[in-house]
Amino acid sequence: MVIAGANIQRGRGAGERILEIIDKPIEVIDKPDAIDTNGFHHGIELRNVDFSYNDTPVLKDISFAIPKGRTIALIGSSGVGKSTIADLIPRFYDVKGGAILLDGIDIREYKMESLRSLMSFVTQETFLFNDTIFNNITLGRPDATEEEVMEAAKIANAHDFIMQTEDGYQTITGDRGIRLSGGQRQRLCIARAVLKNPSILILDEATSSLDTESERIVQDALSKLMEGRTTLVIAHRLSTIKAADEIIVLHDGQIIERGHHNELIEIEEGVYRKLTRMQHIA
Ligand SMILES: Nc1ncnc2c1ncn2[C@@H]1O[C@H](COP(=O)(O)OP(=O)(O)O)[C@@H](O)[C@H]1O
Ligand SMILES: [Mg+2]
Repeated sequence: MVIAGANIQRGRGAGERILEIIDKPIEVIDKPDAIDTNGFHHGIELRNVDFSYNDTPVLKDISFAIPKGRTIALIGSSGVGKSTIADLIPRFYDVKGGAILLDGIDIREYKMESLRSLMSFVTQETFLFNDTIFNNITLGRPDATEEEVMEAAKIANAHDFIMQTEDGYQTITGDRGIRLSGGQRQRLCIARAVLKNPSILILDEATSSLDTESERIVQDALSKLMEGRTTLVIAHRLSTIKAADEIIVLHDGQIIERGHHNELIEIEEGVYRKLTRMQHIA
């Protein structure tokens, strides 16, 4: 068995930590007196957030709230800083100015593990270990039962294709196992998130690399995952954006427009209006 497989057995959180640090620099550490979150009750707030990579400014004075139970969509052209905002919430990086608050407390006050236990991320870059499909889904929930795993896989529209593989849930995925399509890999990651059952979801262009048919299936799984949760979504699909409680439009590292689809679409010469007419938001 591979090393990652051994880690998965070690206990709740171990696999999740591997996942998070895998392609992110380790720049952020707990304060000595860091506290546990007390669950998630009210919302997340970005307050006058500034951020730069090294000395290159990326975000300037970003303020918005993600109230509990709501969906906030971030849009803007490539390189504007959408993924950077998504990365600041679980503290892959810390803000350079301003603050991010969870239930009114600066996220730098919390233990990172406690903060991240409230969240799941689904991005284009899915990560699967060389391990069974079962163990890939239970990452972060090694105590899950077979029933729970199957239930999660069904919600994620993954159960049927898993059952068609030679060894079902015991099939090995990754470099040393079967090759899965991008959409299948993503559905395993969605099943993982369903099983984790987080309060907060961060979805970063999760379906952008998929073909239309696969995207439809993944999108359906994501919609089910989003039900009843608090979501920050970076999306190109107009249907996802339209359904958001608030759309935040970024331009040049700043918020240039914000509101509901029906309001933003009315702005003559508006950035949102222009973006929605471009090919990549359809
Ligand atoms: N790890 C990094 N180091 C340095 N610059 C980065 C890093 N990640 C992103 N950037 C730069 O920061 C800007 C914002 O990137 P990003 O948040 O990924 O934008 P978006 O998701 O809107 O396309 C871009 O100019 C990008 O090149
Ligand atoms: Mg991005």
